[in-house]
Amino acid sequence: MSIVILTGAGISAESGLGTFRDEDGLWTKYDLNEVATPEGFARNPALVQDFYNARRANCRGASPNAAHHALGRLVAARPDTVVVTQNVDDLHERGGVTDVIHMHGELFRALCAACDHRWDAPEEMSVSAPCPACGAPATRPDVVWFGEMPYHMERIFDALERATLFVAIGTSGSVYPAAGFVGEARANRVETLELNLEPSDVGGQFDAGRYGPASEIVPLWVDEVLGAR
Ligand code: APR
Repeated sequence: MSIVILTGAGISAESGLGTFRDEDGLWTKYDLNEVATPEGFARNPALVQDFYNARRANCRGASPNAAHHALGRLVAARPDTVVVTQNVDDLHERGGVTDVIHMHGELFRALCAACDHRWDAPEEMSVSAPCPACGAPATRPDVVWFGEMPYHMERIFDALERATLFVAIGTSGSVYPAAGFVGEARANRVETLELNLEPSDVGGQFDAGRYGPASEIVPLWVDEVLGAR
């Protein structure tokens, strides 16, 4: 059985990182057009760097929860499991998943907008910091913004084609292309399961759904898959 898992902000909610579209989500406090688009970065790079510096610090102070650790156990027992995340935090890695596909990039990586060089981001990124490779003051978080192409799409669609089970965890199913993965799985005759606090915008497309806090329902599901129950 080859499992492909897609995670969203909901899996990190109980680690204190917050989500985007829940009632106290990030997009209720910040205008995503100002902090998560190339146009917003061009208008006010300092505001964008501050936004991601705060999220980086928040993440440093957070710990992986039982859902992250359960996926770490699953991957250890089933190394052919593919974990794709929309999250830019590093809680999957700290929960034991080694090869995470970060389709929206990573908080802890930096990108040079001038020469495409990537490197491990410092704790605090600033607008004036020169790119270590070309020296241009064009550094930005290596995070995929709205209107930009998500990373690793070919690898993701290849995994969805070969999968026997597609599981979405902690995502509202409101942002494409990730929200379309369930449709892609169904077109490939792959069984689909949604694990979420409540049915997502695409919940009706899944063969099955289990609802509740990820820290409770994900470990239960992993134990079932591993035959521990
Ligand atoms: N356990 C499980 N699911 C939860 C929990 C929890 N404790 N708390 C919240 N959720 C669910 C919510 O019900 C919701 O369906 O997690 C989902 C979070 O949805 P969003 O806030 O929209 O986050 P996400 O789906 O990851 O957003 C996708 O949008 O803004 C962009 O790039 C950003 O990657 C993000 C993308």
